Amino acid sequence: VPLQPYNTFGIVARAQSLAHIAAEDDVRAIVDDPRWRGEPRFVLGGGSNIVLTGDLRALVLKVEIRGLRVVDETPHAVIVEAGAGEAWHEVVRWTVAHGLPGLENLALIPGTAGAAPVQNIGAYGVELQDRFESLDAVDLLTGRSFTLDAAQCAFGYRDSVFKHAPEAQAGGALPRNMGDGAPMLPRNMGDGAPMLPRNMGLAGRALITRVRLRLPRPWRPELGYLDLARRCAQTGIAHPGAQQIFDWVCAIRRAKLPDPAVVGNAGSFFKNPSVTPEQCADIIEREPKIVHYPMPDGSVKLAAGWLIDACGWKGKSVGKAGVHERQALVLVNRGSGADSVSGGEVMTLARAIQTSVYERFGILLEPEPVVV
Ligand code: EPU
Repeated sequence: VPLQPYNTFGIVARAQSLAHIAAEDDVRAIVDDPRWRGEPRFVLGGGSNIVLTGDLRALVLKVEIRGLRVVDETPHAVIVEAGAGEAWHEVVRWTVAHGLPGLENLALIPGTAGAAPVQNIGAYGVELQDRFESLDAVDLLTGRSFTLDAAQCAFGYRDSVFKHAPEAQAGGALPRNMGDGAPMLPRNMGDGAPMLPRNMGLAGRALITRVRLRLPRPWRPELGYLDLARRCAQTGIAHPGAQQIFDWVCAIRRAKLPDPAVVGNAGSFFKNPSVTPEQCADIIEREPKIVHYPMPDGSVKLAAGWLIDACGWKGKSVGKAGVHERQALVLVNRGSGADSVSGGEVMTLARAIQTSVYERFGILLEPEPVVV
């Protein structure tokens, strides 16, 4: 199965097989089917945060579970539930259009609702975890459904339990399932189910089926991010509504970030690195113009885009892999169709950037998308 249509970078790669998942039962049918027993599985949403470096020897589960509805309303919040296959931007657009503000800062982020918790998407001062209630998922080993709350998702900056491999942290002391030797997952919240074993990663283990978002009441605009504060000042609109913020965020993103439908990319290619205040002071001494933000936990976040830009990478290419002209943090596909960039070329450029940033600033940039 060709995977080029299923990844926003437009990388040419193939998978052994691909199954369309329209409902929870479709997952269970695959788990129970003896033909797929022992076959590696790969869960795919919008394919907007992956770099394919070769063919996938796996059964790809393309999540297409639909549905978008309000499931609860209290004086303190509205809870909206989205099927994992809904396009994230559509969820944002739908809520704002229905007078349910809270997600407007997260407009125009590519990908699906189900993928949003995996990397804890974030933009313009809001992260998914700030609007997260819970999610449903299916255990790909047992076919059982389970529910996770925010604490169990272990959200971090562009990080969650779904980005960590089970083996990496599991250790020997986890409860085991009788049959397949797999650690047990919680069955369901609220019925005395076992907690998710601490530090257990779920990468490759869970397929997210539904996500519930918590939109706090009363709504408060989040305008702390420089780009948005600037819009308020420029337009003289001191108290923008959610629709106005939505429109601004769309405009800012369209001006700065390449549209994956036109130029293949996976959004920010590196995370913004975090350093100690001492390290930061040391760098400022050498690089007074460095863009940095003090974080609530005392650390300092540096703008990776600025670091890459400062090393002269903006607009450069290596083979068919390029650095976007208006945002150095985004790597792009300068080829197209059958002549597209390969995952290997993208990673070669990524390593060259890492090397030059490390040599100049002593900082190792970490890739943000999942490298497959
Ligand atoms: N900058 C440069 N040169 C560049 C790029 C950026 O000097 O080539 C400077 C900018 O002038 C600005 C600073 O770096 O002062 C930060 O840039 P920007 O505001 O564009 O945000 P970012 O740090 O590059 C992050 C997220 C984005 C998110 C925006 C807005 C990460 C890795 N990226 O980008 O998320 O949309 O903030 O909140 O945290 C993504 O994760 O895929 C993504 C696009």
